[in-house]
Amino acid sequence: MPRVVGHADDNGAHAEQVSFERAGRTVDAERAGAAIGVSGACENRAVFVVVGVTGGIAAYKTVQLVRELIRAGHDVHVIPTDDALRFVGLPTWEAISRNPVTTSVHDDVARVRHVSLGQRADLVVVAPATANTLARMAAGLADDLLGTTLLATTAPVVVAPAMHTEMWGHPATVANLATLRERGVHVVGPADGELTGGDSGPGRMSEPEEIARFALGLVDADVRDLAGLRVVVTTGGTREPIDPVRFVGNRSSGRQGVAVALAAADRGADVHVVAAHVDAHVLAAASAHPRITLSRAGTTAELQTATTDAAATADIVVMAAAVADYRVDRVADRKLSKDGSDGTLTLTLVENPDILAGLAAERRPGQTIVGFAAETATGDELLERGHRKRARKGVDLLAVNEVGWQHGFEVEENSLLLLAADDDAPAPVRGTKRRVADALWDAVLLLR
Ligand code: C5P
Repeated sequence: MPRVVGHADDNGAHAEQVSFERAGRTVDAERAGAAIGVSGACENRAVFVVVGVTGGIAAYKTVQLVRELIRAGHDVHVIPTDDALRFVGLPTWEAISRNPVTTSVHDDVARVRHVSLGQRADLVVVAPATANTLARMAAGLADDLLGTTLLATTAPVVVAPAMHTEMWGHPATVANLATLRERGVHVVGPADGELTGGDSGPGRMSEPEEIARFALGLVDADVRDLAGLRVVVTTGGTREPIDPVRFVGNRSSGRQGVAVALAAADRGADVHVVAAHVDAHVLAAASAHPRITLSRAGTTAELQTATTDAAATADIVVMAAAVADYRVDRVADRKLSKDGSDGTLTLTLVENPDILAGLAAERRPGQTIVGFAAETATGDELLERGHRKRARKGVDLLAVNEVGWQHGFEVEENSLLLLAADDDAPAPVRGTKRRVADALWDAVLLLR
């Protein structure tokens, strides 16, 4: 794994037509064999889902969310706000949801539509949820069909916020979100990434498959296949101090480990994240998740203590942290100075304990230990190194991650080889870090 010396202040689906019976209604659904991760949910039961769409550019991604829900066999009713229709028109919502769509409380009055959708809903998802919508929800405003529906429902409500970083961080939005959370509203995202104005930061609506998976997980046990399991996930890069202002570190962003933790928590596990160096915005969604507890560790020694403690009661441990193999032998008390130097600086590094190998050697009965290995090798050499490392560390599963100057670190996409003892040459799993995280959990469940 590349290591740098830095400063402490650096910072196709083939579709088939099927029908589902629910409460006397039959719902036609196009189920796709290759639907992404949500098709397994609620396979025999169509969920009555209300999808509220509010006025943000991310509304175009909600078309895909509705499509995912329809493909998984659910009965979807879209309620756009007037503003949302400026981004995606009413015919699109009707065509994609296969249900009539209206925005007004004055339509379909005979069937008391302003409250009936909310009363009938098993699940309400608001995506995107703008800062304005979150404020309206917190205030309980009911001046449109989405507002009345949200007041009339007792179903779980999920919001997927989308807005510019400044709006997301504004104290008004923070307070509104806290109010909604207190009332039991579930929050998915927002993700950290490119925003409409070309700027970047937290505020981007989560991906449709992630929202669908989380939301369906609230109403169906099938996607809570990790429920009851206690999981420890380490993430981020450890930093070994040289002196009070400098350290030896690495390029790990912690994104993959955070995705592994979020996927486990969404699937019902109780997750303890031990985070080494991870940027606050990468950690934000994990810190806010109701099933995730978080502890921090700076150095390898701190990570070892926190992880060993947490592992004592865990069913599964995933070591996704990029742990420094070496630490500086003698940490200087004061900032090292160039005064009197001969133009060179020699640091002596000593090997750190291998936390993962230690955990594997002392695993509790029934405990599953998963490691990550960042490798710059490719092809057969990557596979061979992976197998040797898996055996040497004694882990049940090793996620081999090809890294290089241009890939693996600080990016949203990843490619992993998931190696268990009897896997000769598995195909790599590719996609978003969340997508490969879900594949990792599928592989772990196969081993248990
Ligand atoms: O040997 P390598 O550093 O590639 O091993 C990577 C795996 O071992 C990761 O899961 C990492 O978290 C873990 N590790 C560890 N303690 C170390 C070095 C790596 O637990 N000192």
